[in-house]
Amino acid sequence: MSIYGATKGTELEKLVSGAAQTEASGTMLYYALAKLAREQGLNDAADVFIDIANQEAVHAGFYAVLNGQYPRDIWSLVLSMQKAEEKGEGQVLEIAAKVRAMGCGEAADEIEEFAAQEKKHGVILGELLKKYAPQGTIKKEDE
Ligand SMILES: [Fe+2]
Ligand SMILES: [Fe+2]
Repeated sequence: MSIYGATKGTELEKLVSGAAQTEASGTMLYYALAKLAREQGLNDAADVFIDIANQEAVHAGFYAVLNGQYPRDIWSLVLSMQKAEEKGEGQVLEIAAKVRAMGCGEAADEIEEFAAQEKKHGVILGELLKKYAPQGTIKKEDE
């Protein structure tokens, strides 16, 4: 049985959406700790932070589903994410250029890698859409 929307519209909805937000922030915080630890050469600590961050990310997604925060029919959402990821590449490249102009070349290089990853996210999502999206999902959205 699906947990989808189990707490939506109940007295637990607020509690669960707060938990989702807290877990999402925790994901960011632990990845920041991992980055900083890595810069200090503390690779074992960084690995621990990343493991925790990944679990927090799973928790965030779990609470979002429990609250029915996203449509249950996932493919139109995937389609809009696919478009956002495609656009994301250019947006992230703009950030990289601005960071580079400020003289932070090393950070800019890494942000450019992120841009390539956003593009890849778009491509991968496109492949999934082709494989799994029901007939009409893509057409309907484009009309
Ligand atoms: Fe957590
Ligand atoms: Fe992405």
